[in-house]
Amino acid sequence: MTQYNRLKQYLPWVQTPVIINAPMSGFATSELAVAVTRAGGLGQIGFLNDKHMLGLELEKARRQLQGFIISSGQQETLPVGVGVIVFGSAWGDWLPLFSKYKPAVVWLSFGETEEFQQWTEGIRKSSPHTKVWVQLGSVRAALDTARVCRPDALVLQGSDAGGHGHAHGASVISLIPEVADTLQGNGIQDIPLIAAGGIMDGRGAAAAVVLGAAGVVMGTRFLAAEETRLPSEYREAILVASDGGQSTVRSRLFDEIWGPSPWPETYDGRCLRNAYYEDLTMGMPIPEVRTKFYSRLRRGQEGQLDTPDQPSVWAGTGVGLVKKMDKAADIVQEVQIDARKRLENGLSGLHTGMEV
Ligand SMILES: Cc1cc2nc3c(=O)[nH]c(=O)nc-3n(C[C@H](O)[C@H](O)[C@H](O)COP(=O)(O)O)c2cc1C
Repeated sequence: MTQYNRLKQYLPWVQTPVIINAPMSGFATSELAVAVTRAGGLGQIGFLNDKHMLGLELEKARRQLQGFIISSGQQETLPVGVGVIVFGSAWGDWLPLFSKYKPAVVWLSFGETEEFQQWTEGIRKSSPHTKVWVQLGSVRAALDTARVCRPDALVLQGSDAGGHGHAHGASVISLIPEVADTLQGNGIQDIPLIAAGGIMDGRGAAAAVVLGAAGVVMGTRFLAAEETRLPSEYREAILVASDGGQSTVRSRLFDEIWGPSPWPETYDGRCLRNAYYEDLTMGMPIPEVRTKFYSRLRRGQEGQLDTPDQPSVWAGTGVGLVKKMDKAADIVQEVQIDARKRLENGLSGLHTGMEV
């Protein structure tokens, strides 16, 4: 069975290549998740560290997808995924929510292998039809998790990704093939691999499929979706940014700026570069950068500053390819159609040297 068919067994409505919106905490609400699922992708709700709020989002998704659930033949589960940021979250507390709403996928990220194992077992007991996906950013972590948890999919997050991720990582272009080879070398061949990081359009999606991915996750691209919840200044910053290798950077500053960061040392995050990051590189100690930020924030709130000050605009290196707002459904369909065209015509394009 192909990896795609493995996904299709429990996500029967999805079209190929499978497009998945990243479960961006606070940004990806039920509105985005419902739109992506209705368009033939896997819509996901980002983690909310408040069970009541997450329950409300799941309830909204359930109500909006009622007819869709029946017509898609997806009766056992709610056809959306939901993200969980594992570190710092008490695992047992969330299981009643999963047992009640039965999301098609629970996506685990940012934890230790043993924590992923505990969550995986707990989710499978509470909601047996829910599939567990784990997002990771290294070959070692992928192998450990595959061995110990046997997740239903491994999401491989390359270093281009926006938001939090492994501080030391590789792009998906080498991460996916090395993980595939390593798993195969260890007798593990049945876990679909999903690509995340730097995929913005049909070209990136087609490339990920060629690398061996069964589906692609897009975070930064969906920041420009109408259904994504984010402040207008944030969206504007995303739309005007270009040359993402220069205009974004990985750093722990983007958490530290708010106060001492609870994030484990393994992780940092990719954001748009800003004046605070420049201060840090010029040698300003983090507590001083923080003081400067809070003083500017106060002045902004008191109306003494014209320009809003955004200390952490999470975005990936592909940000320069995001140029306009779109409906989430249009993003899903445009990427799928273009990727399929490129995959079908790719070889003829190679032979003729012409654009496909
Ligand atoms: C604004 C933003 C918020 C994110 N929040 C989360 C999150 O809450 N949980 C998570 O597992 N990943 C999160 N991510 C990372 C994504 O899951 C994914 O790996 C990444 O967006 C893929 O790279 P791309 O942004 O280049 O598409 C976030 C990414 C962005 C851009």
